[in-house]
Amino acid sequence: MSALAGTDPLLEVDRRHVWHPFTQMRSWCAEPQLVIAAGEGCELIDSDGNRYLDGVASLWANLHGHRHPRLDAALIEQAGRLSHCTMLGLANVPATELAGRLVELVPERLRKVFYAGDGACAVEIAIKMAFEYWSLRGVSGRCRFLKLDEAYHGDTVGAVSVGGIDVFHRIFGPLLFDTVAVPTPNAYRRPNDLGVADYEEAAAGAMESAIAEHAASLAGVVVEPRIQAAAGMLTHPQGYLRRVRAACDRHDVLLIVDEVATGFGRTGRMFACDAEGVEPDLMTLGKGLTGGYLPLSAVLTSDDVYDAFLGEPHEGRTFYHGHTYTGNPLAAAVALASLDVFADEAVIEGLPAKVELMRQLLDRHVAAAPNVGDVRQEGLMVGVELVADLHTREPLPAARRTGDRICRRAVDHGVIVRPLGDVLVLMPPLAMSPDELERLVEVIGTCIREELG
Ligand SMILES: Cc1ncc(COP(=O)(O)O)c(C=O)c1O
Repeated sequence: MSALAGTDPLLEVDRRHVWHPFTQMRSWCAEPQLVIAAGEGCELIDSDGNRYLDGVASLWANLHGHRHPRLDAALIEQAGRLSHCTMLGLANVPATELAGRLVELVPERLRKVFYAGDGACAVEIAIKMAFEYWSLRGVSGRCRFLKLDEAYHGDTVGAVSVGGIDVFHRIFGPLLFDTVAVPTPNAYRRPNDLGVADYEEAAAGAMESAIAEHAASLAGVVVEPRIQAAAGMLTHPQGYLRRVRAACDRHDVLLIVDEVATGFGRTGRMFACDAEGVEPDLMTLGKGLTGGYLPLSAVLTSDDVYDAFLGEPHEGRTFYHGHTYTGNPLAAAVALASLDVFADEAVIEGLPAKVELMRQLLDRHVAAAPNVGDVRQEGLMVGVELVADLHTREPLPAARRTGDRICRRAVDHGVIVRPLGDVLVLMPPLAMSPDELERLVEVIGTCIREELG
């Protein structure tokens, strides 16, 4: 019997009352599903006691494993003091300490921390801050944003406006504000008659020209650094981010780097920006900020951005934005414990060996599997793109739901992964052991062969 034919009676309640995110509920209700009841290390455990490798780190968030003793202890200890109080008019201990720790880790230019809950909220805040910054400086007309094709920054209306994934975003077109879009620099989906180097150069040139052409109307450029995760793990060429920064500097445009997915070690470095020595004006963090335990996100800004908002209370320069749970102490306490784990367990130092192991495993188990058109890797973020024709890169028929079918097979092999269309995504917790990484990649290779071989 498939592991997916779970027996938990809660599934009946779920089908009757729960509406799942990014889910066609007719299919959800018709197909067998899992109910997860516990987690331990890099495994999730269903309500029948079956264990599964968490191959996507619970949607790219978990870093040190589930039920990490130090994160659990920090959460319990903080709950014994204070679970929540507002940051409107009050400071709280862990959120304040965390801000002090974060500015020591991020690129130097970033000195101030504004908290929110989810990644999309952080992006929303960064957009509003960048817009208001120009207005407060008395510069008119700076109200548009430049973005990449196929960008993804979350699902609130502002974040969708600076996104570009057609299948998610098209329907909301009439609600969105105007943006300038430039081609993603990933070469896999380039026109057939263009070589990789030419395509990448043209994409970088298009970004630079668009910044130059539209600078007078741009509040900022918003990018996912080095890899567009939700677009299907589309990696960018080395040096692209630096060229974006240089173009923003030349034309006095703010650079907003969205590290919600890439931050906290995912790319093999603490932040993706570190790979190119890039200092953004605003940076968004989320997902891994609490080690994947609780919703907490943040916007970090330069002093220049922050200072523009300073004035007397009656002058109207205040940044009028906040959420009930902004800077929640439980989440901040766990985030502090996560940073302690990074330091005490030398997490970043251990990543290069895991990243190289992942590369070798993908080579051994996946690269030569049927219909594998491209294997993209940035640190421990991996996309395996399946296509109908390796030569023309023609996609598989969407109605066949190949990616989804492969991921459902993986469950029977004790692995949980999620596809983005026909791109299989692997994004293990940073703590995944070499043996677990091998099992994860081997299962993906096996399931591709079972489905397409
Ligand atoms: C780059 C990026 N920004 C923002 C978000 C949105 O974060 P959240 O789902 O926490 O709102 C995501 C989510 O995948 C993301 O990948």
